[in-house]
Amino acid sequence: MCRASLPCYACARPSRERERERERERAVLERRRCAGLPVPAAGEQGGHFCACAEVRPGEAGLPLSPPERAGRRGARGPGGAPQKEGPRCAPVRWFQPRVQPASAADVMALGPPPSEAAPLLASLRPSPPPPLIPGSPYAVLVLQEGYSEELPDGSTRADGTVTLVLGPHLTLVDTGGPWGRERLLAGLAERGVSPGDIRHLVCTHGHSDHAGNLNLFPQAELIVGTDVCLPDGCYLPTGLRQGDPYPLHAGLLEVLPTPGHTQADVSLLVRGTALGDILVAGDLFECQGDEGLWQALSEDPARQAQSRTQALAIANIIVPGHGPPFWVSRKEPGRGGMAGDPSR
Ligand SMILES: [Fe+2]
Repeated sequence: MCRASLPCYACARPSRERERERERERAVLERRRCAGLPVPAAGEQGGHFCACAEVRPGEAGLPLSPPERAGRRGARGPGGAPQKEGPRCAPVRWFQPRVQPASAADVMALGPPPSEAAPLLASLRPSPPPPLIPGSPYAVLVLQEGYSEELPDGSTRADGTVTLVLGPHLTLVDTGGPWGRERLLAGLAERGVSPGDIRHLVCTHGHSDHAGNLNLFPQAELIVGTDVCLPDGCYLPTGLRQGDPYPLHAGLLEVLPTPGHTQADVSLLVRGTALGDILVAGDLFECQGDEGLWQALSEDPARQAQSRTQALAIANIIVPGHGPPFWVSRKEPGRGGMAGDPSR
């Protein structure tokens, strides 16, 4: 039974569906374990939490929220007795935004970054965001800035952004086009990284300017759109197609389904860098100020518009598929967002 004012996604689903999801999560963990990939310890995975009571903390494959973890470590009730563990629920679709999406009326001049740490972020806020966004445990480095340029004959010359997420789970997002293979290898080598060091490769979608060098990384877990494949060619069941996130590192790295440009588009959310939460978004955003451009390249503009709105509600910085990173600006905390002002 759900004690929240509104039932969460997990509690609104039939119990058989929840059970199937738990089985699927257990199977994914087991296969990752067999493949030698990192497996979060019980109670240390990421996820979304509400006040629902159906699932208890610490169940196999289910995460604890940071407040719950803190509570386990030391929260005390009256008389110094340990507090009863709070209720929790299974991860919820990421499309449930943390803040309300912006309406057209909200799309206004630049405002401060939206978070409890807004003053700190504002003081750190360079213009534009740097190619290396520092952070611990994860920093984000734009290894190759994507571009797209129309030629006089009506053709377009383009290559996709390639992003390296530096930290305990070394992750590459997109590989650029096959014509840039040597440049990609050189860019990695310059940072002391060989292709075999990449633990997760997230390919935001299957277009040639993003997926052109996948075969450099046979030892990585490959997340190509909504397909997830282990190094031995074993494909894992996930909920990405149903709108569920796929965590790579508990509470820190999360693959999110962001359909529209293609129906299988995904993005990588990197939480808690020094400049806030970073969404490496592929062609969900072509570049900053791409209104009027992205629609022409979209398989499903209505769905992509929804994905863009949700992305703007959760990220502080967006790394687009064909341009430099940009800040997400909001009118005020809790009022949704917009892509940064191109004049900035
Ligand atoms: Fe694309």
